[in-house]
Amino acid sequence: MQPAADYAIYLDSVRKVYGGAVPTVALDDVTLGVRRGEFISIVGPSGSGKSTLLNIMGALDRPTSGRVYIAGRDVSRLPDDELSRVRNRYIGFVFQAFNLITRMSVVENVELPLVARGMRTSERRRRAMEALKLLGVDHLWAKSPRFLSGGEQQRVAIARALAQDPEFVLADEPTGNLDSKNSDVVMRALMDVNRRTGKTVIMVTHNMELAAMTDKIYRIRDGRIEGVETPQREVASA
Ligand SMILES: Nc1ncnc2c1ncn2[C@@H]1O[C@H](COP(=O)(O)OP(=O)(O)OP(=O)(O)O)[C@@H](O)[C@H]1O
Ligand SMILES: [Mg+2]
Repeated sequence: MQPAADYAIYLDSVRKVYGGAVPTVALDDVTLGVRRGEFISIVGPSGSGKSTLLNIMGALDRPTSGRVYIAGRDVSRLPDDELSRVRNRYIGFVFQAFNLITRMSVVENVELPLVARGMRTSERRRRAMEALKLLGVDHLWAKSPRFLSGGEQQRVAIARALAQDPEFVLADEPTGNLDSKNSDVVMRALMDVNRRTGKTVIMVTHNMELAAMTDKIYRIRDGRIEGVETPQREVASA
């Protein structure tokens, strides 16, 4: 495989070793390419390296060795400030804990990353409302996140990632704090984002039923890709 431009993200022989008294090999020779517009999932036991892999794909961290290409550009040796520029431009993160600020309203939470970019007030409000609408939570715009259900909070967090217009949405166990009903709602929202905006989505999950709804499942164990599956999806009837 070549790190061609049609790969959204491409990892070439990536190793990640965490230092300390006993060094931990978190990723061991991982090579994989995610195509533009794909929705992939990463599954595996606790401690197998899923979050490490996601953080490296999302330019939150660098590999110890190997190469990482984001939108065709080698980012594996970039200094911190350039790496964060790549992250801001390309990546939207969604985490298990929604990380919303309760003393701000829903729409202010979604606007916050845009404030940091120096965007005009009217423009960022427009973008934030558009993202909330896509996730079906625009009617909650004026509320505090503390009065929202878990599923609603996570959809707001996804809207916050989307409002920045990233090319890739990276989600680390986005349904990990949710019951099965809300997990389904959030999963459907992510699929909708992928389908309607064409954005590449990469999701870490422990939930095999949700993983089976994605285009490709990467199984990781002890820092290695153990297998890749393409789920046979039933065509959903309306
Ligand atoms: N900052 C760090 N410093 C040292 N070791 C770390 C660090 N982060 C992760 N590790 C170790 O690297 C390995 C992979 O961790 P990682 O968080 O990627 O696993 P994971 O698959 O996401 O697990 P979980 O399902 O529990 O979230 C583990 O052995 C972990 O203890
Ligand atoms: Mg993890």
